[in-house]
Amino acid sequence: MQAPRGTRDFGPNEMAARRGLEERLRNVLRTYHYHEVATPAFEELELFLAKSGPGIRDEIYDFKDKSGRELALRPELTAPTMRFYFANLKMEPKPLRLFYFGPCYRYDRPQAGRYREFWQLGIELLGDETPNAHAEVLRLALQLFEEAGLKNFVLRVGHLGILRALLEEAGVKRADQAPLMRYIDKKDLAALEKALQERGGEKAADTILRFFQLERLEELRPLAASPDAMTAFQHLESTWAALAALGADMTRVRIDPTIARGLEYYTGLVFELDAPDLGAEKQLLGGGAYDLSGVFNEQPIASMGFALGFDRTLVALERTQVPPTTPGRVDVILGALVPEAWPEAARLAQILRKSGRVVELESQPVGIKKLLGRASQIRARHAVFLGTKELERKVVAVKDLDTGTQSEISAAELASKL
Ligand code: HAM
Repeated sequence: MQAPRGTRDFGPNEMAARRGLEERLRNVLRTYHYHEVATPAFEELELFLAKSGPGIRDEIYDFKDKSGRELALRPELTAPTMRFYFANLKMEPKPLRLFYFGPCYRYDRPQAGRYREFWQLGIELLGDETPNAHAEVLRLALQLFEEAGLKNFVLRVGHLGILRALLEEAGVKRADQAPLMRYIDKKDLAALEKALQERGGEKAADTILRFFQLERLEELRPLAASPDAMTAFQHLESTWAALAALGADMTRVRIDPTIARGLEYYTGLVFELDAPDLGAEKQLLGGGAYDLSGVFNEQPIASMGFALGFDRTLVALERTQVPPTTPGRVDVILGALVPEAWPEAARLAQILRKSGRVVELESQPVGIKKLLGRASQIRARHAVFLGTKELERKVVAVKDLDTGTQSEISAAELASKL
């Protein structure tokens, strides 16, 4: 039997690579003072319908439990984190920096880099919406990929305030923008142009499509005509300057006015990070400023965050030949040559393990040849064995498998001498 479509089993090599990357990313988060939280794998379906509309039902795993509750496997972790925040963390001092790492589920069509079960590592910054704080979030996003060892990636940054103001000027009211935002998110410019022509005429369509060609910050300024657009532009401009002050490699950062983001809770600065080498599933991270307070009937709280697609990041690292972490090397393989020596072998194995060594202990008495065969199979550094003679003299025989030399070490000194 196979794992369900869109899901995967991970063998020891893959798990070592995954854990290796996870550790490196966690370390970066620690240095930015983010704190881990965890929420359930499934939630009330309502949590995800509230901001994304009923359309999202086709894209998620929803089900009724035995008591008829409508539930869903989480497609992402921002809404669950905010549910948790409003229920239990509201009183924490601000700014509050949270992170999470866990599996998410989407009923996507599986292909390379797109799965039905995938992992996200994400952050939410609550209670600080200054451009400097937003810049630090962007800097953190970049640093995660720097530390992961990825060579080729680009961070694209936009602002929904500018995009929405332009759509409004083009005759599309805020309330009617959702379908257009979807075309923009899907990069379906033909559908967008048609919708704009229907609503605002030829000129409106022209303005928006021209706006989408822009790539430099300064080019946006003249377009920010309305007060809302100007506020948004200034926020983007200040964030940009702060990002440079935080030492970001600005050659990796671009303005992209076309970022609309699929999820409908975003309100301001938005960004996506791609690995251009990857093709269709090249987006490794996405995020922005958002507001989910309405879902919980709460007062708004400044919210900003991103999620990194952990599986895609691993695919990107493989493609660019960054050597993955391999399973840790076995320090010692330990074997008793006769049954009477096994309790002593077991005792020594425990001493070595307590000292931090990775030890494989043979469960049955073995011959030397078999022990060495196994040692080379698992790439052990040392093979340690003891028979009747060694037992009597309180020593062990140690073979260094890198140099091939064999020596005798007193059992009492084994942990310190290896
Ligand atoms: P998202 O853009 O929907 O944002 O997902 C973030 C990342 O998850 C994507 O950039 C992609 O790398 C990865 N991803 C999404 N779907 C799949 C899939 N089917 N297979 C593999 N990887 C996938 C969010 O989820 C927001 N909650 C991010 C956020 C946090 N916004 C504010 N705070």
